Amino acid sequence: MSQQSIKEMFNLSGRNAIITGGALGIGQAIAFRLAEAGAGVLIADIDQKAAEKTVEEITSKNGKALAVTADARSADDAKKVVQLAVQELGSIDILVNNAGIFPLMPVLDTTEEMWDNVIDINLKGAFLFSQAAGREMAATGNGGKIINLASIDAFHPNGMATHYNASKGGVLMLTRAMALELAPHKIIVNAIAPGGIMTPGTADVRENLNKTLGLSSEDIIGGWVQRVPLQKMGEPDDIAKVALFLASSAADYITGEVILVDGGYLLS
Ligand SMILES: NC(=O)c1ccc[n+]([C@@H]2O[C@H](COP(=O)([O-])OP(=O)(O)OC[C@H]3O[C@@H](n4cnc5c(N)ncnc54)[C@H](O)[C@@H]3O)[C@@H](O)[C@H]2O)c1
Repeated sequence: MSQQSIKEMFNLSGRNAIITGGALGIGQAIAFRLAEAGAGVLIADIDQKAAEKTVEEITSKNGKALAVTADARSADDAKKVVQLAVQELGSIDILVNNAGIFPLMPVLDTTEEMWDNVIDINLKGAFLFSQAAGREMAATGNGGKIINLASIDAFHPNGMATHYNASKGGVLMLTRAMALELAPHKIIVNAIAPGGIMTPGTADVRENLNKTLGLSSEDIIGGWVQRVPLQKMGEPDDIAKVALFLASSAADYITGEVILVDGGYLLS
């Protein structure tokens, strides 16, 4: 068998990706990297304005991208987004289940509504989009790649985030279960478990902690970094580079796996 060159391995031309929550933060960084590698990118996000701005940034660099308003919680939206990818881009080869929320709340104060919302976006959303994309990937016979955003919290609980910890533990098992069941369809399913990454979402968390506990952003970051062997916060591109690896043919024999990208946080 002739070996692919490294350049060919990471070339995603002719492949198309859906990224939920791809307008901002980690999802946006993944959209940038997949587009840079040549993939067509469909950003499915509830924030239409931000999604369109991200698309503009990609197309201004000659990348191929589209935005669609979609809610990760909705089965109808999942079907609509997959149809749109097929119609407008030509196929669906890569799905990144990235949309997620992380509101902090002590478990004894967590309302049923908040629990449902976190589980619905973070866990059910990944199931719904995987099912819609998986059906299409299986029907074409070409298979595909699904990448789920888990978290270090899937391995080690963080305080005031029982709903979130549970949702990400679920994402981890969803990844393994789908990898097992979808392998005969040539659908490869993996997860990335980020540590502390500087995104608009984590900036909101710091702002809330500032309001509720009076902690400064520097104190929060400093406290976190103390536990990170590599002694810094992660950037969205740290995750995007790993997503590119998983989407590329360099990762064709990996399925049901999770890659921790946490600067060593869980070692300490
Ligand atoms: N940032 C971190 O430190 C960190 C750590 C571990 C895991 N993660 C995971 O990575 C993913 C991205 O996190 P982030 O920090 O970039 O978040 P973020 O809040 O910065 O961005 C999230 C994006 O998702 C979109 N979104 C929110 N709800 C949605 C919904 N219902 N449907 C569609 N889109 C929706 C938002 O509009 C936004 O564009 C999440 O799944 C998160 O749990 C993040």
